[in-house]
Amino acid sequence: MKKFFVIGNPIEHSLSPKLHNYWIKLNNLTAVYDKKKLNISELENFIKELEEKKIDGINVTVPFKNSVIPFLGKLSVEAQRTQSVNTIYLRDGTVIGHNTDIEGFELAIKHTNYDVVGKKVLILGAGGVSPSIIVALNNMSAKKIFISNRTQSKAENLKKTFNEIEIVKWGTIPDFDMIINATSLGLKNDENISLDYSKISPEKFFYDVIYNPSETNFLKSAKKNGNKIENGKKMFIYQAQASFKIWNNLEPQVDNKVMELLN
Ligand code: ATR
Repeated sequence: MKKFFVIGNPIEHSLSPKLHNYWIKLNNLTAVYDKKKLNISELENFIKELEEKKIDGINVTVPFKNSVIPFLGKLSVEAQRTQSVNTIYLRDGTVIGHNTDIEGFELAIKHTNYDVVGKKVLILGAGGVSPSIIVALNNMSAKKIFISNRTQSKAENLKKTFNEIEIVKWGTIPDFDMIINATSLGLKNDENISLDYSKISPEKFFYDVIYNPSETNFLKSAKKNGNKIENGKKMFIYQAQASFKIWNNLEPQVDNKVMELLN
């Protein structure tokens, strides 16, 4: 029996077990995917279990995507660039850390039928997911990436790695085509990002990394103003698909049933 885990803290909310176990069953695999809440001091021993082949794969979520790195043997190019690991596996005796959030975001945008080529994109937030989004936007040939974060020093830190991004002050809105909420604002239903929507013309694309709630106030207001909107559900599904593919050597399908599973 193959064993997979998603680790994080908190972890109760994670929908990864639901999605992976659905695909496991659909493909008649002898495997189980569980969630595990860990403290930072427990990371090293848990990853050792993968090295000892007691575990077959690990997904990593908030807040450990960076803190697992010292315990890995090798990073993929994507994980190295973002310093963010969400997928761990063993290959020829080496524990490898990879990042499938980049691919998840790219596929999500592709399946939303939005063409990023030549677009100006404003990212709100400089937390854990932002480096993955920057790499994905660069891969998709965005023309310009602005970043705005409440704590400006964190945006400045990101710029050390991604010199091409332009920092804008929190609360300032530059001219953009696409805006991405990569903050945690909106996870609670009453949370709002203070944007002056009247100053934003209606043909923009509003993307929220959050998918639960399915429509944050950020997306609700944008929709009311006539903008195209999309939540983070497809990104979540496609990052999971990429992990599943690495561990099980087969590509699980993404269809309406999978989309409904996570409602
Ligand atoms: P971390 O900052 O530890 O990487 P995260 O969940 O990946 O955690 O990121 C949280 C993001 O949401 C950050 O960009 C954070 O901004 P700060 O760097 O200023 O903390 C942003 N965020 C969270 N609460 C916020 C709030 N009330 N107003 C504005 N931004 C907020």
